[in-house]
Amino acid sequence: MKQEEKIFYGAYAPKLEEIRALLLTEIQSMLNSLSTDPETAVAEHIKCRIKSADSLKEKLRRLKMEENAESGLKNLSDLVGARVITHFIGDIYTVLDLIKSNPNWKVKQIKDYIAAMKPNGYRSLHVILTVPFGIGGIDTINVEIQLRTIAMDCWASLEHQLKYKKHIKHTALIVDELKRCADEMASTDLTMQTIRDLIQRG
Ligand code: GTP
Ligand code: MG
Repeated sequence: MKQEEKIFYGAYAPKLEEIRALLLTEIQSMLNSLSTDPETAVAEHIKCRIKSADSLKEKLRRLKMEENAESGLKNLSDLVGARVITHFIGDIYTVLDLIKSNPNWKVKQIKDYIAAMKPNGYRSLHVILTVPFGIGGIDTINVEIQLRTIAMDCWASLEHQLKYKKHIKHTALIVDELKRCADEMASTDLTMQTIRDLIQRG
């Protein structure tokens, strides 16, 4: 955690670090239970981060909430967040099943933006977990795991770069073109899944 985050999260910082480390370890061991061979791994990579102070303050401001750590801990679900990037769409649901059957985890909510993409074309599956906290009268906090294919992650990263959190009004043309890219990538994801199914069937 950088100095800025250490100051912003204050007494909560070590606990947030602990939760982040636990989340990562648990995800890794869950994925290892499927395969430890990189050749057959479902995840291309995993990331786990604590929300930056700037990004948290910006989000709280946007939601018209108090801009401090307590407010973030109580109101938001992604102060600690993980991303599992899979190769294929089917892998996302394999990982989801593992999460749901993990006795160490309490699933609070599942947001399937693959079955129902966002209007801008954003696709991902978000799982919100409730985890013990136990500091400053806050018993539990929510953490978010985002499950995406490489293609979904590629689009989200580029779109984020272009617009997310920037207060620029985009023209209808840019909105349409971004949506078209998302749809093309989703179509490629489906084809790649079909090819894999064909190969696996032999
Ligand atoms: P915000 O969208 O951040 O206000 O959170 P929310 O409470 O509405 O939850 P949601 O599930 O919509 O989004 C949570 C997270 O998903 C965000 O912090 C981003 O990481 C990601 N996300 C959601 N929508 C988009 C999007 O349109 N583009 C990109 N690049 N990422 C998105
Ligand atoms: Mg949102």
